[in-house]
Amino acid sequence: MALKITVIGTGYLGATHAAAMAELGFEVLGLDVVPEKIELLASGRVPMYEPGLEELLARHVEGIEGSSGRLRFTTSWEEVGAFGDVHFVCVNTPQKHGEYACDMSYVDAAFSSLSGVVREGALVVGKSTVPVGSAQRLAGLLPEGVELAWNPEFLREGFAVQDTLHPDRIVVGVTEGAGGERAEKLLRTVYAVPVAEGSPFVVTDYPTAELVKTSANSFLATKISFINAMAEVCEAAGGDVAKLAEAIGHDERIGNKFLRAGIGFGGGCLPKDIRAFMARAGELGADQALTFLREIDSINMRRRASMVEMAREALGGGFLGKRVAVLGATFKPDSDDVRDSPALNVAGQIHLQGGQVTVYDPKGMANARRLFPTLGYADSVAEAVRGADVVLHLTEWREFRDAVDPAELAELVSSPVILDGRNALDPQRWREAGWSYRAMGRPRA
Ligand code: UDX
Repeated sequence: MALKITVIGTGYLGATHAAAMAELGFEVLGLDVVPEKIELLASGRVPMYEPGLEELLARHVEGIEGSSGRLRFTTSWEEVGAFGDVHFVCVNTPQKHGEYACDMSYVDAAFSSLSGVVREGALVVGKSTVPVGSAQRLAGLLPEGVELAWNPEFLREGFAVQDTLHPDRIVVGVTEGAGGERAEKLLRTVYAVPVAEGSPFVVTDYPTAELVKTSANSFLATKISFINAMAEVCEAAGGDVAKLAEAIGHDERIGNKFLRAGIGFGGGCLPKDIRAFMARAGELGADQALTFLREIDSINMRRRASMVEMAREALGGGFLGKRVAVLGATFKPDSDDVRDSPALNVAGQIHLQGGQVTVYDPKGMANARRLFPTLGYADSVAEAVRGADVVLHLTEWREFRDAVDPAELAELVSSPVILDGRNALDPQRWREAGWSYRAMGRPRA
């Protein structure tokens, strides 16, 4: 009989995982404690912008014409307990307010609700990003006869569907002995298709599985802050960080990905994950091992301040009475997520210093308005830049690179000055259209 799977928590991770499991042929029941979210998902819609996810849901959500009907949603724990052979816990672990540590309250609540309803012999699988040591503790909350495995998720926003169906690797942390062996076997069944298609399947103990996630994110953050540190040196020395990144990236040991200098990383994962990792290492007495992450974090935050300074300089030393157009609000393109967005942080700082800021973003406007209601917003690039004394390019949407005509925009602004905070526009194209183009870590023309 086919395995029955539940997915607990239907945010980015859970909604995508649930739809992907249905795509792989399983019967899936998704649970969330927020009824509005469940209603939306049950009608085949998603509460965020994620390319391909709505189409995938529509293919499987029960009641949608032409769907497989393999995917349903509920708010009932009893239903989840009775249904599932394998329960994936996908709830979020945000940064604690005013602290580095991560807030485990959603995970703890999910485990305690699940432990009251889970059937004997079922497998619980943790996917949330948690401090190392959590799996061991959470296993103790589950009833006798229910095994726990830890299976971290590596999906990127904007590529969530692709990353879930074709993961770079599947990491599974299990206990030693018969329970762990059974858990591994079940998860090999769940992931049989991606494994057959080439995804490596790595089996570890709990702490290693938890650490794979936080160390991978720390490495990515380090790569970005490394290239941003090189950008600072390039700025001081008159070098070009984009050329430098291209050249060092040809070394296969370094690789050319995640070497785009600019205003740095943001979002719901990298910043809070490296902070939670430092906090946890401190608790374990290993804080010295991760002091470099403090530097990674501060290089990253410094880039936002540098962008503000670059804009101030371009405006002759102050923001008062100046019109500043900001292109981009989300923390990265192909997402509507504005959590810890470098773009909005820069926009907010300039606003606080007296600049008249107008923001445009292709998908992030509603979320940006909610988070920063006092900024000005426009419905198009043209409207945002009208009368601007400086234009800041802060999220590298394809629309800004390909669909915008610099010559047409030059007619609309008060002064054709563009600062590229993402090193993603073509300097020559903008300069030929009459713009003064400046980017972080690159020489002025
Ligand atoms: C990240 C990890 O990539 C993913 O594996 C993990 O599961 C969750 O965290 P995500 O937060 O979706 O995913 O975004 P990612 O694509 O990693 O980008 C993070 C930030 O780094 C963005 O703000 C992006 O603009 C920035 N970035 C990325 C750079 O500044 N330069 C780069 O070269 C790459």
